[in-house]
Amino acid sequence: MRAAAASCRACDLYKSATQTVFGEGAEHARVMFVGEQPGDREDREGKPFVGPAGRVLDDALEAAGIDRSQVYITNAVKHFKWKPQGKRRLHQKPNAAEIDACRPWLDAEIAAVKPEILVLLGATAAQALLGRDFRVTLQRGQSIERPGLPLMLATVHPSSILRAPDNQTRELAMRAFVQDLTRVAQRLRR
Ligand code: URA
Repeated sequence: MRAAAASCRACDLYKSATQTVFGEGAEHARVMFVGEQPGDREDREGKPFVGPAGRVLDDALEAAGIDRSQVYITNAVKHFKWKPQGKRRLHQKPNAAEIDACRPWLDAEIAAVKPEILVLLGATAAQALLGRDFRVTLQRGQSIERPGLPLMLATVHPSSILRAPDNQTRELAMRAFVQDLTRVAQRLRR
């Protein structure tokens, strides 16, 4: 699947991205994390969540007692979408058509790994699996059941914690994120 996804042309994002960033992790992980799309670092390295957002995710996983090597981590969209801003590549949100075009890869990953729990990190992942009307702010941390899908839990995207305007807000946001992941850890222990 990874090899097939490397030459995916289902939308135009491949044209400006370095490479397809496929999910990776434990083959039969009990929990799968779904982010939005690779960032600048991920695009260069070809691995999900290895940049600044990945560090926040790593810290939160550790605080919640979840071993990263035991989970599977992927993104709703597997190419980096960006626009130039000076010398930087500025992240751009994938649109509904790009999310839809990438959905077969996500479905295939879910079918292959068969996780018990899907953790949706932020609005794009939630939109990909639960539709555009789902609001992470209203339903974060709750168990969500949908036919044909593993049990889901939506929470914020780790980048949102990096964007907090001050230390105190960032600490509170991190605490709430860890609390959501702790719920996942508790479920895994059952
Ligand atoms: N943000 C994401 O949603 N995914 C990554 O892989 C990196 C940053």
